[in-house]
Amino acid sequence: MKIIRSPKEMQKICRDFKRRGKSIGFVPTMGYLHRGHLNLVKIAGSKSDVVVVSLFVNPAQFGPREDFHRYPRNFKRDWLLLEKSGCDYLFAPGVRAMYPEGYHTYVNVEKLTGHLEGAVRPGHFKGVTTIVAKLFNLVQPDIAVFGQKDAQQAVVLKKMVDDLNYGIKMIIAPTVRERSGLACSSRNQYLSSEERKQAKVLYQSLQLAKEMIKNGERSVNRLVSKMNKFIDKQPLAEIDYIAVTNAHTLELLNKLKGEVLISLAVRFGKTRLIDNIKTKLRK
Ligand code: PAF
Repeated sequence: MKIIRSPKEMQKICRDFKRRGKSIGFVPTMGYLHRGHLNLVKIAGSKSDVVVVSLFVNPAQFGPREDFHRYPRNFKRDWLLLEKSGCDYLFAPGVRAMYPEGYHTYVNVEKLTGHLEGAVRPGHFKGVTTIVAKLFNLVQPDIAVFGQKDAQQAVVLKKMVDDLNYGIKMIIAPTVRERSGLACSSRNQYLSSEERKQAKVLYQSLQLAKEMIKNGERSVNRLVSKMNKFIDKQPLAEIDYIAVTNAHTLELLNKLKGEVLISLAVRFGKTRLIDNIKTKLRK
């Protein structure tokens, strides 16, 4: 595995592969890798000749009161994990290389970014789409792999790829979970052992919702209220939102119908966790 720091060099390497007819699979990350990321790398490897993983904690997607400075970083650990998991190139640029002095260009997907995470984290998705657009221009992947845990991010990035004619195949991989059901996330390492124990309530509440739907529940109000009550039993959990939306348009629903995304964000102390499930209703 080669480590590349310079955007220009990364672009040249990828251009050379493309010229030789090789397909490129790409996994953008912010590092502090877990099993979920390694699964994305494995998927990229199974579908392309060359695998590029980027590691860049992107300041543009963190709000002023968010955790950019304390976001977990461990380059050596990530490097060793990637070396064992079929990554060919690790692209790890510095902040100044991606956003040089006088940088002024941003990519923004409208509408889809106004609610859910976008409502609570203003500017977050503009930061995500800008960095992913830049990375796509450097790496020129044939396929790019993202995780379903960041459900809104997946919908927004797919829209960007369509709207800007990138011609990249977007693969959204299922969420990888800990044994307790807690979704793997770099932010889980902030949790104390008691918070971690209680944090499985996110997954359990989603399972509860799934069960209610299976038993015929079609009212969003009743579903959300049950989930609320269930989560509130955990003394350390503070609900940011629970939302039921159309899985493709992300529009809020009153009645459960079609393909539905149930997503939630819950705080445990200073740590904010998100999770979701997608479910298709027949009637
Ligand atoms: O999902 C993430 O880790 C980030 O949002 C991404 C896509 C790497 C962009 O910085």
